[in-house]
Amino acid sequence: MCGIIGYVGTDRGDDAIEVLLDGLSQLEYRGYDSAGIALADGGIAVHKREGELSALESTLSPERFDGDSIGIGHTRWSTHGPPSDANAHPHTDAEERVAVVHNGIIENYQSIRDELAAAGVAFRSETDTEVVPHLIAGFLDEGLDHEAAFRAAIDRLEGSYAIAAVFDGTETVYAVRNESPLVLGVGDDGHFLASDVPAFIEYTDRVIYLDDGQFARLTPAELVVTDGDGRELEPSIETISWDPDDAGKSGYDHYMRKEINEQPAALRECFRGRLDELSGRIDVPELDELGPVETVTFVACGTSYHAAMFGARLLREQGIPAHAFLASEFGADVVPIDSTSIVVGVTQSGETADTMRAIREANRAGATTVALTNVVGSSAARETDHVLYIRAGPEISVAATKTFASQQAALTMFAAAVTDRRSRDLVRELRAVPDRIQSILDTSSAREIAETYRGSGAYFFIGRGYHYPVALEGALKMKEITYEHAEGFAAGELKHGPLALVSEETPVFAVATGDGPLAEKTIGNVKEVEARGTPVVAVTDGRSDVGRYADHVLEVPATSPVASSIVANVQLQLVAYWTANELGRPIDKPRNLAKSVTVE
Ligand code: AGP
Ligand code: GLU
Repeated sequence: MCGIIGYVGTDRGDDAIEVLLDGLSQLEYRGYDSAGIALADGGIAVHKREGELSALESTLSPERFDGDSIGIGHTRWSTHGPPSDANAHPHTDAEERVAVVHNGIIENYQSIRDELAAAGVAFRSETDTEVVPHLIAGFLDEGLDHEAAFRAAIDRLEGSYAIAAVFDGTETVYAVRNESPLVLGVGDDGHFLASDVPAFIEYTDRVIYLDDGQFARLTPAELVVTDGDGRELEPSIETISWDPDDAGKSGYDHYMRKEINEQPAALRECFRGRLDELSGRIDVPELDELGPVETVTFVACGTSYHAAMFGARLLREQGIPAHAFLASEFGADVVPIDSTSIVVGVTQSGETADTMRAIREANRAGATTVALTNVVGSSAARETDHVLYIRAGPEISVAATKTFASQQAALTMFAAAVTDRRSRDLVRELRAVPDRIQSILDTSSAREIAETYRGSGAYFFIGRGYHYPVALEGALKMKEITYEHAEGFAAGELKHGPLALVSEETPVFAVATGDGPLAEKTIGNVKEVEARGTPVVAVTDGRSDVGRYADHVLEVPATSPVASSIVANVQLQLVAYWTANELGRPIDKPRNLAKSVTVE
């Protein structure tokens, strides 16, 4: 995930430098590890810098660009190659005839790169994106005009992309979209394109949302949308009514809500290029060199620890001894670690001090270390032997939501890859998860449940098997954003103590899917609490009769136990969100908490 912007202005329009930098500042929530712009008046001038946008701005003196009215810009969230000046976008061909910005992942970039390199192209970055300007240049050399060369290059790409390109010596920006967002802005004195409306809402509120496979050509005078065959379309222009101050959240009240809703897209990115439905193989090239896996120790904190518990169970089920440790409790003195051990740090930010200390200790003990993280170039990524990126895109809200789902998804792929498990069913189930989550987002009654139980004495969450970490996560989400007392338990543990806490004032959320023995046993636990007059909310796919014993049901689509725990968690995220909303809490920034905890 990253932010792209493009602008073509008329003589009366604003200077491109101003529009691009303003726009990028509104898109930084989509990525902020490096930024760059290309201005295209009389030769292409590229300026790019590792770091936040301010690092780029400090190198530019806007007066130098007075009157320039055409350009593209990018704020990056790396997927291929760590943050650096060289990997920052825009990327150009050798002669700087074209500059390109890209949001997404080009799955077949390696084969294109090999082919171009064999033909003598010298690459200057490690990104997947850089193949695009070189492909375009190749087609220009064959005599194609700008637009034809752009289309021919796009034709070669597989994967997700929103791409914008400017050519030397023209007043045109070309763009295309496939599975990455792209919206056009229709202005009086110029036209705009961006990953998201906030980038240009200051200049125009009239927008065109591009669909997958559509191309756009922007000049100061016209804005033309075409289909894949070049046929002109008549797109509908919508008027946006957001308050520009709230625009960073794309119309949502909170980043948390936005990020909950981004889960289908985040998971599609996480799976991209890694699932092969035909063979049932899960291909994670990042782990190819991992060597034999005898035991696995996970270290993590908070939400990431819950994901690690889920991952450890997966491995154990496939015959590999695996345990999840709270990173703050991990030490070579309490866990035998040596050169045969594999230690996996699960950390969204890649910077959590407790997790980094555990990883460093594992490194010192000679273990093979792996980072499962969201942030390319983070400390965890740099200090481990292998890295598996979860590709969730930046998460702004302190409460982790989409990154938990992406961690669960990545851990499922990790477990399948290291055990070389082939299962078409598993691949099919995983592929279906984004749509299943979407159906929950579209139909959930979590808001009504939140209204019903607002003001309860405490909230309890129970689950077994893969749903046990989900119960813990449901409770963590609830407590951190509502400030209400919430606890998660393994369902079977209730009767060993916590049952003393339940009353008519303490709703119990029970996660039970499928109709197997774990669901049956959870029903037994539900009956235990129901007998005490305690309200029960069942999170279920309806395959067992847990709903009969519950006061309310939050439905989830029927799927395998592993996939259903990724899906069921979304209902609990929504319950926490709507309860905090009812209580008027500052949802994105809960008191006393920080997004990245860099102290032990
Ligand atoms: C949960 O919503 C929190 N953001 C927190 O528990 C978080 O998961 C924990 O601090 C670990 O962070 P990390 O994944 O960045 O290492
Ligand atoms: N894959 C590109 C890169 O790593 C774009 C990244 C993105 O869209 O976040 O540079």
